[in-house]
This record gives sequence, structure tokens and C-alpha cells, in this order.
Amino acid sequence: MQLIRAIIRPEKVDEVVDSLDAKGFSAFTRIDVFGRGKQKGIQIGPTVYDELAKVMLMIAVNNEDSDEIVRIIEESARTGSFGDGKIFIGPIDEAYTIRTGEMGL
Ligand SMILES: Nc1ncnc2c1ncn2[C@@H]1O[C@H](COP(=O)(O)OP(=O)(O)OP(=O)(O)O)[C@@H](O)[C@H]1O
Ligand SMILES: [Mg+2]
Repeated sequence: MQLIRAIIRPEKVDEVVDSLDAKGFSAFTRIDVFGRGKQKGIQIGPTVYDELAKVMLMIAVNNEDSDEIVRIIEESARTGSFGDGKIFIGPIDEAYTIRTGEMGL
């Protein structure tokens, strides 16, 4: 299992979630976050915004689904401009469904 953390534009969340859902990946956790990337925020006129509002989607996936999910997120979250976001992936050691006590997703 892998944990995908995708930090994306807030206005792209619906499109990303719908695209994942259409391929059968319906579960996610959504967290509103602030952050900045390589450009260290953005300057609009005289105003510098050090940190920008983004949304982090946390999606736990089986290993064999990871590549497809990353591709779906990239395609649906991309505008082509700076700040489209990042995807971080790391292993999950264990997962449990609380209701059943079952191990796994
Ligand atoms: N190295 C990082 N570590 C943790 N979070 C990051 C990192 N880089 C970016 N982020 C998060 O992702 C958000 C979007 O980053 P962003 O898309 O600007 O990345 P970038 O690497 O600067 O790419 P681009 O050049 O396309 O803008 C940031 O606001 C921040 O929340
Ligand atoms: Mg950037």
C-alpha cells in the first residue's frame, strides 16, 4: 500500500475527485493547507503572498493502482502554470478498517 499526498489548486479539487471517482477510486481525505514551492509564493502588484492556499488530498492505494492514480491526478490538476502542485508518495505499513477490524484498504 502507498499513501499518495497530492497538493493541488483548490479550484481543481472537484475535477480531480470526479476524475478519480470515474475510474473507481472514490475514497480520499481532504485537508486545506497553505504552502509554497520553488517560486516562494507569488507577487501580485506590490503585494507578496508568501504562502498560497492549496488543498492536500490524501489517498491510500494498493501498490498496483498507484501509477494510474498519479496519472489521473496529474491530468486533471494541471493548468500548465506555476503552482499546479506536487504529488508525494510513501509506503503504508498497515491499514485497518475500524468497523470490521479487517487489515488492508
Ligand atoms: N518541496 C516541497 N515540500 C513540501 N511541500 C511542497 C514542496 N514543494 C511544493 N510544495 C507544496 O506544493 C504546493 C504547490 O507547489 P508548486 O506547484 O508551486 O511546486 P513547484 O515545485 O514550485 O512547481 P512549479 O514550478 O510548477 O510551480 C506549495 O504551495 C506547497 O504547499
Ligand atoms: Mg511553484
